[in-house]
Amino acid sequence: MSIIEQMKMTDFETASRADILQLLTAEGEVQQELFQWARDVRRENNGDDVLLRGVIEITNICNKNCDYCAMRASNKDLPRYALNAEEILDIAQSIKQAGITTVFLQGGQNPHNDVLLEQVIPRIKNDLKMDVLLCLGERTQEVYEKFAQLGAKSYIVKFETSDKVLYQEIAHGSLENRLQTVRWAKSAGLKIGTGNIVGLPNQTIQSMADDILLGIKLRPDFISSAPFIPNAHTPLEHGTHGNINLALNTMAIFRVALKTPLIPSISALESLVKGGQRMGLEAGANVLTINFTPKESQLLYKIYSEQRFVVSLDHALRTVESAGLHVHQNS
Ligand code: 5AD
Repeated sequence: MSIIEQMKMTDFETASRADILQLLTAEGEVQQELFQWARDVRRENNGDDVLLRGVIEITNICNKNCDYCAMRASNKDLPRYALNAEEILDIAQSIKQAGITTVFLQGGQNPHNDVLLEQVIPRIKNDLKMDVLLCLGERTQEVYEKFAQLGAKSYIVKFETSDKVLYQEIAHGSLENRLQTVRWAKSAGLKIGTGNIVGLPNQTIQSMADDILLGIKLRPDFISSAPFIPNAHTPLEHGTHGNINLALNTMAIFRVALKTPLIPSISALESLVKGGQRMGLEAGANVLTINFTPKESQLLYKIYSEQRFVVSLDHALRTVESAGLHVHQNS
């Protein structure tokens, strides 16, 4: 019996690290079987629709110091920006005009933003009648409750790696605190998103398998896997990028194990390989995020790398079509 046939009969709650490792390292025909299984599970649970989200990168000011990110606080060479409420609302309006119903506000971890969010979230939710998704770093339970009361629907905090020593080394904080923020956001009534990075320096394949077990345990509403991209002006700039197949296999395993979550096919896949986001959809993903950040701010939002791939509406539509899928009609 192949590992895929065997896992189809196994409850992922009881899956071992060894089982996950076999799926994670699948190649050739076995990998194709895994992707086919992920597509079947996606179709049964979510149909063949891809949800589009519009992201606004509201600020690159960040008080964290993650070694993989050029927006880290100690990068003093990067000019910093923060959009104001009117700018954000104008962009949200153009996201709505593009027929997209989710505004994704992403930014560095910077609690000074929270005052601005008090104005912005209710206006996007109540005036524009759009869903608000946030990815703004770690906050207290009270702040997550506040975001929920203001009308935010969901919040993303990626755990990045399940290896607490590696997390401490690379993100300079405690993994336990990070995971606590995921639980706080959940108990505030927000839908939660999380995920890992694959191919960080010193990350072992065993710890990537543990990432999958942790992702499953968190029962998230969204989950992603990103290949590590070495970023200029960071301590890890000379590292090698993560293996796209490990990211794709991780996404497919999340799909077959968790069934219903939204899984984005992230832009870092496209930066590594032309057609990488289509490959993500073929591995079971069902979300694409289109970038609506104004050009001059986009250039200063140094996530992933200098040459990050910026997803346009056109590219997203072509990618959905090339994967033989459809854009979700309400989006
Ligand atoms: N490589 C891969 N993923 C990255 N992220 C940020 N920088 C990188 C990088 N260089 C991811 C992290 C973070 C999210 C916003 O983007 O998972 O939580």
